[in-house]
Amino acid sequence: MPEIITWPDKVTIPFEDEVNLLAALVEGGIPIAHVCGGKARCSTCRVKIVEGLAGLSPRTEKESAMADRLDFPDEIRLACQTSASESVSLGRLVLDKTDIALSTQIGKNTFTGPVGREVDVAVMFTDVVGYTKMADALPAYDIVHLLNRFFRNVSAEVESNSGRVDNYMGDAVLALFGVDGEPKPALSAIRSGLGVLQVARDLSHYVERIYGMSFKVRVGVDYGRVVFGLMGAESSARETAIGDTVNVASRLEAANKETGTNMLVSDIVYKDCAPEVDFGQSFDLDLRGKTGLVAAHEVIGLKNEDGL
Ligand code: FES
Repeated sequence: MPEIITWPDKVTIPFEDEVNLLAALVEGGIPIAHVCGGKARCSTCRVKIVEGLAGLSPRTEKESAMADRLDFPDEIRLACQTSASESVSLGRLVLDKTDIALSTQIGKNTFTGPVGREVDVAVMFTDVVGYTKMADALPAYDIVHLLNRFFRNVSAEVESNSGRVDNYMGDAVLALFGVDGEPKPALSAIRSGLGVLQVARDLSHYVERIYGMSFKVRVGVDYGRVVFGLMGAESSARETAIGDTVNVASRLEAANKETGTNMLVSDIVYKDCAPEVDFGQSFDLDLRGKTGLVAAHEVIGLKNEDGL
């Protein structure tokens, strides 16, 4: 009977006919990370084939795409995409106690339980202009008070537009729209962003009066796919979004500085919201981490509040 032999622990899993490597390892109680749940969308289930490469199924199209992207040699395979019909010896990515604890935490050792899910969302990123200077000038307690006052109203704006605040990072706020299929996520993000700009204008009167400083924010919005899943150690893990869409929203927010605007959105958001939103100038921007120029559009306001 053919068998799977795991290295370096040398556990043997016999099988009949043909088995999927990940399914066999999970059923055999072997800790192995499989963050995307076996969809070839991560690379955490990768194994190194020590012996028996010839008895494995050829790479699937999805595995080939990942192998090309990460430059895998022939002996590195995605366990979830690979079947064995003959004996095979392999080493896993998961090898030490920390990895084993992590894979148990994230996968619960079920083949079908990915740690995250892929969703198409609108991402809104906001940041306070001149925060470092403000933080240098004011006592820390005053900053905490100011930011909490700001965050409270930002959160209300986000939630009233069917979004959720995903994270606070210093003075920045990351909010998501459409995580659970809410309609018109890009428009909701823009409405929320306009609300946040108004919140900052309102707060600026207060900050000017008390501290003699202005309070302004910048906003960036993008729409696209993210992985939404649990991040962090077991005791403090929380759901958050990771992906290029988050990065682009953040870069668009920062780009307002060079374009002299308050809110910039990506081309996909612009096209989706053109009937409802007044846009101003358009720019071709060189965003950090992106190849080529990225189209960005300034948001002026909503065309017809009553019709929305
Ligand atoms: S590629 Fe993600 S579990 Fe195999």
